[in-house]
Order: sequence, then C-alpha cells, then structure tokens
Amino acid sequence: MCGIVGAIAQRNVSQILLEGLSRLEYRGYDSAGICCINNQELRCIKTTGKVKNLKEAVKEQGCPGFIGIAHTRWATHGVPSETNAHPHICGNLALVHNGIIENFAELKSQLIEKGYEFKSQTDTEVLVCLIHYHLQTSANLLEAFKIALNEVKGSFGLALIDKNDPNTLYAARSGSPLIIGLGIGENFVASDTLALLPVTRRFIYLEENEIAVLTTDKIDVYTLDGTPVEKSVVESDLDAESISKGNFRHYMQKEIYEQPQSLQNTLLGRLNGDDISLETVVGIDKDTFKDIKAIQIVACGTSYHAGLVGKYWLEELTGIATNVEIASEYRYRKAVVQDNSLFITISQSGETADTLASLRLAKQQKYKKSLCICNVNGSSLVRESDYTLFTKAGAEIGVASTKAFTTQLLSLLLLALLIGRQNNAISDTQNHEILEAVRKLPALAQEFLSYDKEIEDIACQFSGKRHTLFLGRGVMFPIALEGALKLKEISYIHAEGYAAGELKHGPIALIDKEMPVVVVAPDNALIDKLISNIEEVRARGARLYVFSTQDTLIKDDPQTCKVSLPMCPEILQPILFTIPLQLLAYHCAVINGTDVDQPRNLAKSVTVE
Ligand code: G6P
Repeated sequence: MCGIVGAIAQRNVSQILLEGLSRLEYRGYDSAGICCINNQELRCIKTTGKVKNLKEAVKEQGCPGFIGIAHTRWATHGVPSETNAHPHICGNLALVHNGIIENFAELKSQLIEKGYEFKSQTDTEVLVCLIHYHLQTSANLLEAFKIALNEVKGSFGLALIDKNDPNTLYAARSGSPLIIGLGIGENFVASDTLALLPVTRRFIYLEENEIAVLTTDKIDVYTLDGTPVEKSVVESDLDAESISKGNFRHYMQKEIYEQPQSLQNTLLGRLNGDDISLETVVGIDKDTFKDIKAIQIVACGTSYHAGLVGKYWLEELTGIATNVEIASEYRYRKAVVQDNSLFITISQSGETADTLASLRLAKQQKYKKSLCICNVNGSSLVRESDYTLFTKAGAEIGVASTKAFTTQLLSLLLLALLIGRQNNAISDTQNHEILEAVRKLPALAQEFLSYDKEIEDIACQFSGKRHTLFLGRGVMFPIALEGALKLKEISYIHAEGYAAGELKHGPIALIDKEMPVVVVAPDNALIDKLISNIEEVRARGARLYVFSTQDTLIKDDPQTCKVSLPMCPEILQPILFTIPLQLLAYHCAVINGTDVDQPRNLAKSVTVE
C-alpha cells in the first residue's frame, strides 16, 4: 500500500527519497510524488505509474533540497492521477499520508465555507488544509498539527514540511505504521524500515497517536495531547543487500529459491535434541500453554491459509479445539470466547490493518493471552502481542507471499509441538519422529525445487486458459487454496481451490476439456479418496495435473500429467507441496507477461481496511 519517505539532512535529500520510494515499490502503488524545500519554496513533482517515471521527471526538472518528503500512492479516495498523487500542498505546507481520513467529507465542507479550494479528490488534501487553517490561529505548526489530528477520524501515517521552517520535519502515526530512522547529522521518516536501509539501521518505532518532530540532530516525540515520550532505539538486523534480486529474474523467483535457507533459519537455535527451546516463542515459560483450552487463529490472505493448515496440526498434536477466521470477518462479529483461550495472529508484515484490529479487539475480549507469528521484528503486531514466534523468512519483496508462507507453516508446526508437549498430548515417540522429519525439511525443500524445469514445461500448457481448479483433501486442502491464490494473483488466470470431497457439490459443473484441474495428491491417509475424485474429473474430460509422490499409483494417460515428487514424511507434505505450486504460478505469470513482483491492484502490506 502507500509508502512514505521523508528526510532532513545537511545534503541534498532527493536521491535518498527516490531510492526510498524504489524500496517501497513492492508494497503496491499507482502514482508517486516528491516535494523538497529549496530557497524557501516548495518544489513538488508527481507522476502516475512507476517510480522510474518520477525519477526521470526529477532528473529533467530537478528537485533539490536539504529537507523533503515523498510518497507512493495506492488509490483510495480518487482515481490514480498526478493531481491526486501526494504530496498535497496548502499554502506553505506539504503533506504525505498513508491511511484514510473517514470524516474528510464533513471537514472538506467546513473548509470550503472558510474559503479553502481543493484541486484533488483526496482526503489528504483536506487534512493539509485543516492543518493550515489551524496554523493561522496557533502558536506554531506543532500546535496546529496536534489540533488537526485530534479532529480527524480514521487512520494515518504522515510526514509534513513547512517552507517557512526548512529545519523541521513533522511525522505522526495513528493506525498506519511509521518509523524514524536515525542518521549522523541527519534523520529520516518512513513507513517501512526497508526504505531507509541504505542510510541507517537505527530506528525508532512510533506508537499509536504519537507525533515526532525531527531536525538534523534531534528527535522529539509527543503523544497527540502533547505529553513528551521517551523512545528507545532499535538496531535492525536487515541490511540493504537483503532486498537485492541477485541473479534472479524476479524477487518472487528468488524468494521461492530461498526457502531451504529460510526454513533452516526458522529452525536455527530452536531444536535442542527432542525439545523445542522455550525461546522459540518470545515471552513464554514452561507452563504458558498448560491451561489453554481453545485456540482462535486470525489472519488475512496467504497467512490465513497458513492458519488453516495450523488448525489440522494444532488439533492433531495438542487436542485443543482450534478455530481459524479471516481477520476482516472476525473483527466485525460477536465471537464467543471460551475460557482459557489463546488468540493467535499470523502475518508476514505485522501491519495488516484487519489483523491488527482483530488483535486489539481480542485484547478487550476474554482471551487469556495473544501470540503472533510474524516475520517483521518491531512491527505493530509484535509490539502489541503478549508472545511472538518469529518466522525467519528474511525480507520478502514479491507481493505474492512464498517463503513467508512456508516459514509460517514450519512455525505453526513448532508451536503445535510446544503446546502439545506442555499439555502432554503428544507422545515422546511421535514428538521425536516429527522433529527428525523437521530436521530434513531444508534438504527436502531443495529437492522439491529441482523440479522447476519440469514445472516450467507444464506451465506452457496453461497459456490461454481462463479458469482452473485446484483440489486437495485434509491438510492439503488449504494448500490447494494457496496454490489457487498464487496462480490467480500473479498470472491473472481465474483459479479456485476446493476440498476434493466438495467437487460433486458444485464445481464439477464447470469441468470440461478446456479446464485444467490441478490436484495436490501426496501419498497420505486420504490418497485413495482423492484418487476417486481424480477419476470423477477424468470422466468429464478435463486435463489433469497431479502433483503426487513417486510411489503413488496415479493412472498415466494422455489426459493426465503427473509430477512425481520425492517421497517425504506426511507431516511435511503441506510445506513441501507448496513449492511446486509456487513454481507453477510463477512460470504461468512469466508466460502471461504479467508484472510478477507487483501484480496489478495488489499491495504487499495492506495497512488500510
Ligand atoms: C496482502 C499480500 C498477501 C498477504 C496478505 C496478508 O494481501 O498481498 O501476500 O498474504 O496481505 O499479509 P500479512 O502481512 O498480514 O501476512
């Protein structure tokens, strides 16, 4: 979603701002803009489309300055256009904004009555005018900023500059993440640490309803009611290189290939013989999960699919009833919370608006504790949850989640084992066998990747197809859902995931010779049932693509394309069988010529609801 970068320094900041925007491109956007103060004037350039268009415009027209703000916009109020792109200017002020001002229409009419005129359709232009309006009667800009922010409803991450005061950069956060980067004799603000890695690794995370005032050598933070706040500085373990594409054609491809390593990293230091060390989940002790009687998982998108797999494992290995729900649904209904329930959120970014809102709701409900499975240290979910299990996927740039998903799965498996052990629900032998299997996971993931070429050849057969069906049973059903999601989001081929047993209850009506049907069919307890479903599809003439294991007896005929993958422990199948489906989606997208890493209309981090 929208991205913010701001800088104040003793050097020209426009290249820092543009580089920061490039690093935020992965979040998804449709236009971009920059504004610097030069000779007490606001110099503002905006373009639609990619950041490279903005870079070219800045190269031609120039936008120098020792202080500036920049933005990538993902349209909410008003179409993508130069006029609607940020920064928005009112008099001496320029503002960039992530989030949504919900009462903007009401504020806009009040400001129009007071003589303000608006060029854009955005809520952001209303906010900058509101700050400007209050500045006329306030002692200084900080006061005006606070008054305005107390009047708006909705969510915001903001960066503000004033051409009459080129020595100060203002920032504020409520409901939309914002971080401050600390340099030497220069300071920065951004919506994401990745934007600032070339200039600093030292960060301050703004909390909800905080305002920051930055100069080149000082950072003051206040609450919205003006109380000063002491903030601690956190050193990031990411480096600028962590977001390079290396020799790969796309970030997504690189991230698929990084999975053996990211799975290894997720295990690193966490297995101790037949025990999973308590430090695996930050904040727990040996009794934390002992009294848990129910588990509620909440997440969005791919993370939700990880939760669906987690339900199978948690119920099997802990005996604790587990429910999984999409965050945007959970947050708007009255859920019944059992005594001694654990609330789990799953999120790559830790900033997804609906997931965060669900956690905040859960904290008012009678959950015993909250735990998040998250990839980003310092993110809102991590800071607001009681416990955290970090996935160690590393920075994930491709909008379509790949290594974040498989490390979420592995984390859920480790969590199920931890909870199962604390509740004596799992025998020593079962625990030992699963951990032995888990230790082989990175090497097996590497083996599964070696099927890339075979899958690329199969992907050619999807060219020109409009619809596909993905089938799976049991714990492989959510993997079929994830396979379908991957394909649709990056190749734009319509894909539906179905529990194979549901085939007869509707989707079978769609099947004809034109419809490729992908079946996730590893050798497991449900394979015979699934083979019957495969026959039902075959009888209707569809072309079948069966991802199976080497020893599984799938009929070989011209109608069926079987990918015979390595035999592997059943418990690891959801993780390993995800890999060929990611590769299939990737190659279909490349063949279809789509923007693989930044598919249309999608955002990496959905920070508005
Ligand atoms: C967006 C991304 C998905 C992601 C989902 C949830 O839709 O495009 O890849 O799965 O958000 O994001 P989270 O960061 O909470 O896992």
